[in-house]
Amino acid sequence: MSDIDWEPLVEAALKVRELAYAPYSSYRVGAALLADDGRTFIGCNVENAAFPVCLCAEQAAIGAAVASGSRSFVALVVATAGARPAPPCGMCRQALSELAADLPVLLVTPDGVREHWTLSKLLPGAFKAGTLTDGQG
Ligand code: THU
Repeated sequence: MSDIDWEPLVEAALKVRELAYAPYSSYRVGAALLADDGRTFIGCNVENAAFPVCLCAEQAAIGAAVASGSRSFVALVVATAGARPAPPCGMCRQALSELAADLPVLLVTPDGVREHWTLSKLLPGAFKAGTLTDGQG
């Protein structure tokens, strides 16, 4: 975790958060995902009048990465507002676990509050490819 250059990722997550389309919740989320090829992919939440169609910022970033040929991730920054930064929802944790072994995750707010996590702490016992065959992750 110490060799990750977090600052450009923090800047990217905070910046893309400003572009979130969140007219229903007014809860804007930005994500910056660093791939193992050095590229950074960003995403923001995109809401919809049909609420279940809402796209999370993390999944938007995952989609951008995969569509650009990156499938292995080494760091994630998620930006939200509030007194404490928010962790990824359960669905995003599961989506991230597919393409990252144990992702270091930094949660940030525009006011400078920061929390370091790892995906394995956020999602112990993830459902993995191996679960399909032998029940193990
Ligand atoms: N949201 C995210 O973008 N990521 C998460 O991990 C949790 C929730 C978005 C979805 C919705 O647009 C808004 O935050 C409120 O739930």
